[in-house]
Amino acid sequence: MLGRLNHVAIAVPDLAAGVAVYEKTLGAQVSPPQPEPDHGVTVVFVDLGNTKVELLEPLGDGSPIRGFLDKNPSGGIHHICYEVDDILAARERMISEGARVLGDGEPKIGAHGKPVLFLHPKDFCGTLVELEQA
Ligand code: CO
Repeated sequence: MLGRLNHVAIAVPDLAAGVAVYEKTLGAQVSPPQPEPDHGVTVVFVDLGNTKVELLEPLGDGSPIRGFLDKNPSGGIHHICYEVDDILAARERMISEGARVLGDGEPKIGAHGKPVLFLHPKDFCGTLVELEQA
């Protein structure tokens, strides 16, 4: 079921500072900031060729990464995203395996315009997992 690593998402308290680290210090290609009000984040994409890193900065009051940054004030890896061929089939498999799908269990449209689901970190080695339909 599990496909390629789509991205690693890193929550940052200051997007401009995070961009500087990746662009200037590491010499990476970084996209312009993209506000995602539906997801409560502003995101930039770091293109690594084989995969991406996304830097996420909170956007708005109810940002889902606010609590994470309260616990990790200098930022940190927030989630990893794996590709799947069929998001609904993947959801059924997760449920039948006893893993918890977050939210109402309905796929939402993610930052790449594709349906995504999030899985409970306690069921996945302590890591928040995003599944994205490839
Ligand atoms: Co993501």
